[in-house]
Amino acid sequence: MTTFWSWYVTLLTSATLVALTVLIFATRKGQRQESTEETVGHAFDGIEEYDNPLPKWWFMLFVGTLIFAVGYLVLYPGMGNWKGIFPGYGEVTEGKAFADGQPGWTGVHQWEKEMDKADKQYGPLFQKYAAMPIEEVAKDEKALKMGGRLFASNCSVCHGSDAKGSYGFPNLTDADWRWGGEPETIKTTILGGRHGIMPAWGEVIGEQGVRDVAAFVRVTLDGRDLPKDSNANPEAGKAIFAANCVACHGPEGKGTPAMGAPNLTHPGAFIYGSTFAQLQQTIRYGRQGTMPAQEEHLGNDKVHLLAAYVYSLSHKNAAETESK
Ligand code: HEC
Ligand code: HEC
Repeated sequence: MTTFWSWYVTLLTSATLVALTVLIFATRKGQRQESTEETVGHAFDGIEEYDNPLPKWWFMLFVGTLIFAVGYLVLYPGMGNWKGIFPGYGEVTEGKAFADGQPGWTGVHQWEKEMDKADKQYGPLFQKYAAMPIEEVAKDEKALKMGGRLFASNCSVCHGSDAKGSYGFPNLTDADWRWGGEPETIKTTILGGRHGIMPAWGEVIGEQGVRDVAAFVRVTLDGRDLPKDSNANPEAGKAIFAANCVACHGPEGKGTPAMGAPNLTHPGAFIYGSTFAQLQQTIRYGRQGTMPAQEEHLGNDKVHLLAAYVYSLSHKNAAETESK
């Protein structure tokens, strides 16, 4: 921070604290000191307000926060470039400095310090699992617990806490894979991310074409009815599909994992919905699902554990459905 901004922050903060102190004592001064039955005069829905002073404990709470603020600003950074006198961190560990190369307390340094501690504690464990094949890790209770925690904090925002996905985000617990469900493929997906590109067809095949091919997908591939007023011809759609869609979705519409083109013959595989209206929407405007790459953020060892966790989800599921 430049000297100007440092002073700007310092003066603004101090002035605010002084103003608040003046304000709280000034409002206290004018008030009566004893309780009263008098009301301030306005009523709302039969509810009236007594003209009583602020309770003493309430007032002291305000004073307490002001004292706390001053104490905090002396001990910790907050006043411009002032570093605080407590508890000044040195280096994280021997030979490893903080990201900004400076000592002293900051929220970032505290975070770095805790990450370093966690790495020391769990790093060897992560490394041990990283050296094992993913299928093996997926059988290890402790590894799955760690993987589950990583999933909760890094993946559940999109895939859901139960990993069952939602609109636009694939279910990771079933047998439908867009990019492939082999252990190493799952790991590749998580490490490098994925970008599914479904082109927009509205301009290419026209409105009637969109309706017809959507009808074909719905009736022939996915085996469902059409709305009565659909005004679509699935037979015409079949020809459009053969000419435009098989290159990616395959001759039978069962998908091509290398391109992330999903299976269109199974309703559960759709993430954008398989109603007649949703299909038209997808085909007319296209879709671009993005799975963000995790390599830089989490590193190989954690991704390895996550791949094992994700793999275990569908395998537990497969075992359950088999036994049913
Ligand atoms: C260039 C390859 C390519 C072509 C050609 C292509 N698609 Fe797709 N399609 C994809 C990809 C990749 C996705 C997945 C997009 C995503 O994940 O966001 C997809 C997704 C879809 C979906 C959505 C599935 C879901 O999960 O809800 C439908 C429906 C679909 N395509 C139908 C078609 C039809 C019909 C055609 C022909 C008119 C077609 N696609 C042509 C690559 C293609
Ligand atoms: C910002 C949202 C987002 C986050 C966070 C996210 N994902 Fe995804 N993920 C997606 C989307 C969207 C797709 C589908 C990509 C596509 O359309 O092809 C996907 C696809 C996947 C796939 C491939 C599924 C298949 O059918 O082939 C796997 C595996 C996966 N994610 C695992 C994870 C894991 C593990 C994490 C946590 C490290 C994670 N994802 C975090 C959005 C996310």
